[in-house]
Amino acid sequence: MSASLHLTIDGRPVDVQPGETILQAARKLGISIPTLCHVEGFAPSASCFLCAVQIEGMPNLSPSCAMPAADGMIVLTNSDEVRAVRKTALELLISDHAGDCVGPCQTGCPARLDIPGFISLIGKGDQRQAAQIVTDDLVLPASLGRVCPRLCEQNCRQCNVEESLSIRNLHRFAADNQRLAIDPYRPRKEPATGKRAAIVGAGPAGLAAAYFLLRRGHGVVLFDAHPQAGGMLRYGIPAFRLPRHVLDAEIKMIRDLGAEFRLGQKLGRDCTLDQLRRDFDAVFLAVGAQGSRGLGCSGEELAMPALEFLEKITDGQPPAVGSDAIIVGGGNTAMDASRCALRLGAKSVRVLYRRTRREMPCLMEEVEAAEEEGVTVEFLVAPIKLERKNGKLNLTCQRMELGPPDKSGRASPVPIRGSEFEVSATCVIAAIGQAVDFTVQEAADLAFSKWGIEVNTNTLATNLTGVFAGGDAVTGPDLAVRAVAAGKLAAASMDQYLHGQKVIGSPEAVNVLMSKLSEEELAVFLRGIEEAPRAPMPHLPAEQRRTTFEEVELGFTPETAARESRRCLGCGCGKAIPCGLRSYATQYGVDPTRFVGERRHFVRDSSHPDIIFEPGKCILCGACVEVARQAGEELGMSFLGRGFEVAVASPFGRPMAEALKTSAKRAAEVCPTGAIMLKGTGCGGCRKG
Ligand SMILES: Cc1cc2nc3c(=O)[nH]c(=O)nc-3n(C[C@H](O)[C@H](O)[C@H](O)COP(=O)(O)OP(=O)(O)OC[C@H]3O[C@@H](n4cnc5c(N)ncnc54)[C@H](O)[C@@H]3O)c2cc1C
Ligand code: SF4
Ligand code: SF4
Ligand code: SF4
Ligand code: FES
Repeated sequence: MSASLHLTIDGRPVDVQPGETILQAARKLGISIPTLCHVEGFAPSASCFLCAVQIEGMPNLSPSCAMPAADGMIVLTNSDEVRAVRKTALELLISDHAGDCVGPCQTGCPARLDIPGFISLIGKGDQRQAAQIVTDDLVLPASLGRVCPRLCEQNCRQCNVEESLSIRNLHRFAADNQRLAIDPYRPRKEPATGKRAAIVGAGPAGLAAAYFLLRRGHGVVLFDAHPQAGGMLRYGIPAFRLPRHVLDAEIKMIRDLGAEFRLGQKLGRDCTLDQLRRDFDAVFLAVGAQGSRGLGCSGEELAMPALEFLEKITDGQPPAVGSDAIIVGGGNTAMDASRCALRLGAKSVRVLYRRTRREMPCLMEEVEAAEEEGVTVEFLVAPIKLERKNGKLNLTCQRMELGPPDKSGRASPVPIRGSEFEVSATCVIAAIGQAVDFTVQEAADLAFSKWGIEVNTNTLATNLTGVFAGGDAVTGPDLAVRAVAAGKLAAASMDQYLHGQKVIGSPEAVNVLMSKLSEEELAVFLRGIEEAPRAPMPHLPAEQRRTTFEEVELGFTPETAARESRRCLGCGCGKAIPCGLRSYATQYGVDPTRFVGERRHFVRDSSHPDIIFEPGKCILCGACVEVARQAGEELGMSFLGRGFEVAVASPFGRPMAEALKTSAKRAAEVCPTGAIMLKGTGCGGCRKG
């Protein structure tokens, strides 16, 4: 045995044999150096430079996987310079990467539902697995499947061909289907930690936080001022959009997981924040935005706040609306109130909105549904006086025109002088907007922002130790899916806090997303996809809707759901989870847009029975070339071309099945990116092939 070499790595001495590399020496010390192109037992290709280290006396960094250790060397593996060089190496690799880490739809969903994953399972008829994904990611998938404004669908790649996939209706289908199953999916819980969290507010944010804390083994008590849980899903959104039995079943699942509900308990009246902080190990404030804004004109007290109107309907005490109802506002609340007024017997229901249809902050389909039922929406009208006259309400209004954009970016309404007119009504409902109830602040020294409770947006921690906040209480009135996403994030942070760890929330993995696709690239996605229009949602006939609070949207049949799921292009990478490039890019805080330039063309070769080859993701490590050589493949893989044009491919343009006859699976294992991946694995990958 030859004499050992002595070197120092990160200040620690180590002995190695001649011929061993710095990477091997570091591993002896348990020092981890990131590698992408390196495969144990293969000659180094030194193509990625991720394993770069600093060697005293050398002007440049060196790849540790290829650099032999030498006697007396002093090596640094984690200096600022080393980290900066690794980050740049990753950014360069990523800038030339042709592929999406996850489907574009998934990046649009605030709760990051694995959309291609569950849709492909519906297509395969595996409804239980599909329900598992949507329940795990969304918590209230059947409720969100009815009310979410489908943020994901705006990003759907099918929009380049036809209309987007009907993602919301598909997860509603998956969840509804499971609810009615004999043996529905039940989420597992980790062993009990003995820690307990108090959650104030049992709306979507509080329920989501409870679900994820319970699953992590913590005890949860939910306090809510209302007699029933659900927040605005119950007391705001009417039953014809979200039937109560659907919401009840989703809440029951959280109760069955072990949540304790203390209903009719109001923070600030029945308990204080100080008490909760004393009695529990952590607190989550999810009190929503319960305050209603007035009409902002004289006599506004004569108008009924829309939230009060909707809540009374939920409580089974619907207010009398008379024959002529006027609703002022242009959001979801205004639409819901107008459709309820119709159902309560009003002959004329008019919604007055001060901007135009384009600026309405609600889904256009909600406006269309209201109009179909008989609601009239009048635009560019604002109230200026409300009074009682001859036993009726008299609203003086003014016509508006659009001026320059305001702070929200929407065109601002400007009054037209001399355009005043009067309308009479039997009831006027103010649906101008909600606000966070700042009385929670009085209970303790909680910091508030302009919109609500102030938090660190990465962790949802407030200024008070152990107190977190999320949902509408932080953002002001927003969306149910964002409240669910906030509850999920809060649970991750609270779990870290309860385990005494550093609270970092749940940092997002780096996502490479292909920008606009060329026609040929799109054709790759469309291969094998049925060309079909988006499946329409069956509705209760408009005539029938006016007289009942029965659900309007009737849901997909299994056949429609299966057909719709077959329109999905299965975007996203089949190797998204274990891909080294993505993991390291996330770890090093890489900015995928730093070196934006012309990316490689996206190509997919699915001709091999076991693997998919996407050469635009290849980092030229040569591992597959070596795997094929060692396996004695006749053809194998080769480096083709020169300089910047060099690529790894099957020689002579021969099919991949000929190149990797016996070593395809091993090639997929060693390939550090999604360039070679096994068929039928990963998110979205299950559909490719
Ligand atoms: C009429 C209407 C229609 C809507 N339509 C849609 C839609 O179609 N799609 C969509 O995505 N979003 C919609 N939204 C918005 C959505 O409902 C909210 O963004 C979402 O419910 C916010 O969730 P949250 O958990 O933060 O708060 P909330 O749902 O408001 O829940 C807060 C809970 O905290 C409780 N609480 C408040 N103060 C206290 C206290 N001091 N002590 C104890 N408990 C307290 C309340 O009783 C409530 O249960 C609508 C809202 C309304 C009002
Ligand atoms: S919750 Fe909303 S954004 Fe998320 S997948 Fe469902 S419809 Fe899309
Ligand atoms: S086609 Fe499917 S995977 Fe692709 S963006 Fe649309 S829903 Fe997502
Ligand atoms: S395809 Fe081959 S050369 Fe390219 S990254 Fe994968 S293993 Fe390396
Ligand atoms: S250069 Fe060493 S792992 Fe890539």
